[in-house]
Amino acid sequence: MEFPAEPFRIKVVERIRQTTRDERELVLKHAGMNVFNIPSGAIYVDLLTDSGTSAMSDHQWAALNIGDESYAGSRSFYKLESAVRDITGFPHVIPAHQGRVAENLLFSAICGPHKVVPNNTHFDTTRANVEANRGEALDFPLPEALDPAREHPFKGNMNVPALEKFLSERAVDVPMVVMTVTNNSAGGQPVSMQNIRETSRVCKKYGVRFFIDCARYAENCWFIHEREPGYKGKEIIAIARELFSYADGCWMSSKKDALVNIGGFIAMKDAALTQTLQQKLILIEGFPTYGGLAGRDLEAIAVGLYEGLDPDYLHYRTSQVRYLGETLAAAGVPIVHPVGGHAVFIDAKNFCSHLPQSQFPGVALTVALYREAGIRGVEIGSLMFAHQDKHNGRTVYPALELVRLAIPRRVYTSAHMTYVAESIIKIFENRQSLRGLQLTYEAPILRHFTAQLEEV
Ligand code: F0G
Repeated sequence: MEFPAEPFRIKVVERIRQTTRDERELVLKHAGMNVFNIPSGAIYVDLLTDSGTSAMSDHQWAALNIGDESYAGSRSFYKLESAVRDITGFPHVIPAHQGRVAENLLFSAICGPHKVVPNNTHFDTTRANVEANRGEALDFPLPEALDPAREHPFKGNMNVPALEKFLSERAVDVPMVVMTVTNNSAGGQPVSMQNIRETSRVCKKYGVRFFIDCARYAENCWFIHEREPGYKGKEIIAIARELFSYADGCWMSSKKDALVNIGGFIAMKDAALTQTLQQKLILIEGFPTYGGLAGRDLEAIAVGLYEGLDPDYLHYRTSQVRYLGETLAAAGVPIVHPVGGHAVFIDAKNFCSHLPQSQFPGVALTVALYREAGIRGVEIGSLMFAHQDKHNGRTVYPALELVRLAIPRRVYTSAHMTYVAESIIKIFENRQSLRGLQLTYEAPILRHFTAQLEEV
């Protein structure tokens, strides 16, 4: 079967309700046309993020009951530590309550003025944590990653020649090179094992630390298994172990591929850096054996890490996302190709070709999705990224205007995906009626979260 049925049955359900069009019109007005301001109870299918929105399994819920809530030396921590060591091979494990705290701990320890952190593509919070610690965050994506229509099996790869050229000039200023797998900001695209190997080789040559931002590493390993020569017969966990073997450490927002609602960790080889981070951890998160999490959360992550590597689950998971993407593409809806691991990205510039970037075509599409169908997606375009040039004050628009439909794990059925696809195709057929927007309120930083807009 090309798109396999769900490899689970449903034991607990949560009611969702479709609203009427009139209700949604009112909700949009109160929300200032910004879907971040919509209460979740007024949403039918919520595709805002795949982070922290997974459905946990019966085994994870059972594990919650045996959580050890000891302040120090919790049994649950040792379970998590053993799972992380088993999968990553890194001896030192530091729990944190989510990915961005791990980033804050790391970059506050290694960044500073003149320091530069190269990454295949920084996720927003990663970039923000490098910059907040006075470092410079540089992206080294493939040129192909900037063309939504371009097919490439590993479009998330690092541009290794460009990285090597940079390191040959600036290695002394680089405290760490990061590989984000899958590459979220480039469309949830995977990175090949060969690319990880080559990046590792270049880092070793210049004596620079190499870390993996592994929020979606299991989905990445599935794509390596499917697409990279030599990996067809390999177990997913063996692929994961090889992937981590090329790095010096990693951090994970466990809210993605560890199938939990909260949690994260850092793991690495370096004992001295671990000690530095543990001291900071005690200051901002908690004792080194719980790091801002309850013992029960540590248990759920330990179980979820293995469930996230199950090949039946990964086959279904990536196929469900691809089903949505391919159904849209077959109807002519412009999406980013190929379909990534956790989300379908719609090319809103192309979808709303009648709207200039100054009128937020991506936001226009998120408004239409909610208004017509009660679906929430997120704009990744001008509202998020357009900014004023420091020198001439002119607005600089991002190259891409995207709308991300991120699919929560094990939450929605294929029928929900069909509903989403059919709704979007209907909107696409009437796309000329979508209206542009203008801002009525914007905050000085990260304006997309709280902006208010009106239709022009
Ligand atoms: N790294 C990557 C690649 C991410 O996608 C995220 C979060 C983080 C780090 C930060 O982790 O949220 O646990 O603090 N991505 C979410 C998203 C928010 O919607 O893509 P966090």
